[in-house]
Amino acid sequence: MTPATAGGSDAERESIEIDLLLEAVYRRYGFDFREYARASLRRRLQRRVALEGLRSVSGLQERLLHDPACMERLLLDLSINVTAMFRDPTFFRAFRSKVVPLLRTYPFIRIWSAGCSTGEETYSLAILLHEEGLYERTRIYATDINEAVLHQASQALFPLEKMQEYTENYLAGGGTRAFSEYYTAAYEGAQFDRSLADNIVFARHNLATDRSFNEFQVIICRNVMIYFDTPLQNRVHELFYESLLRLGVLALGPKESLAFTPHVDEYEVLDLHEKLYRKVK
Ligand SMILES: C[S@@+](CC[C@H](N)C(=O)[O-])C[C@H]1O[C@@H](n2cnc3c(N)ncnc32)[C@H](O)[C@@H]1O
Repeated sequence: MTPATAGGSDAERESIEIDLLLEAVYRRYGFDFREYARASLRRRLQRRVALEGLRSVSGLQERLLHDPACMERLLLDLSINVTAMFRDPTFFRAFRSKVVPLLRTYPFIRIWSAGCSTGEETYSLAILLHEEGLYERTRIYATDINEAVLHQASQALFPLEKMQEYTENYLAGGGTRAFSEYYTAAYEGAQFDRSLADNIVFARHNLATDRSFNEFQVIICRNVMIYFDTPLQNRVHELFYESLLRLGVLALGPKESLAFTPHVDEYEVLDLHEKLYRKVK
């Protein structure tokens, strides 16, 4: 056997071990990572194998099945929670100029912030809507697969050292006030005004397995589907299509797109660069 073939068979064995682990995790814990993009999944599992002092993916499966704490650690590895307030400021600028006028026409607004992570994106939206005089009549449903990040989000407490970056983002995103109006600097961090959370419902929801739970004028799901493989992305697009009201807006992340999905013809582009789409059919 040539080394190349031997390498290939190792990779194949590992690939089967990964399939088995994902199946086992799904059955034991209900977390479904079976349709996540493979290359990044493999890297994260290999990293977890090393951090646990194990030698193989099947060793990791064994530990996961008997140790829920290990599952929690893996969950944090697999649900990449990187986020920021007013992340991609030009997106928020476009949201203000192109989506807000549409929202003004509704007496009551429901927004789904899917894959909200620790809440920075959701609070950014709350601030923007507050400044536009729309927050009072809005309810934001902020969901994530990961309970730990949702708990953190509900605290509205963010690192103080991030405030300079977030202030710059806020202003670049069309913010019109002093960003520091929205938080109090304390020893533990920047505590955001609790009233910003008044109209936010944080709840666990798994985009891979859970169903639609309401109808929305806006669904914002940024930097989440990038981790999914194409069939799962298409299923989530189906879920979003079902969950959007006609003329509702879908907002995706910079590296995500509606192009090549089965629903592309049912939306019109509101802003191609900022990935804002409007359901028209
Ligand atoms: C990179 S963060 C994006 C946060 C925020 N939307 C942003 O753009 O800054 C991705 C989030 O998606 C969540 N996520 C991953 N898989 C998910 C799933 N199947 N259902 C719901 N949320 C999921 C992760 O837990 C993580 O918090």
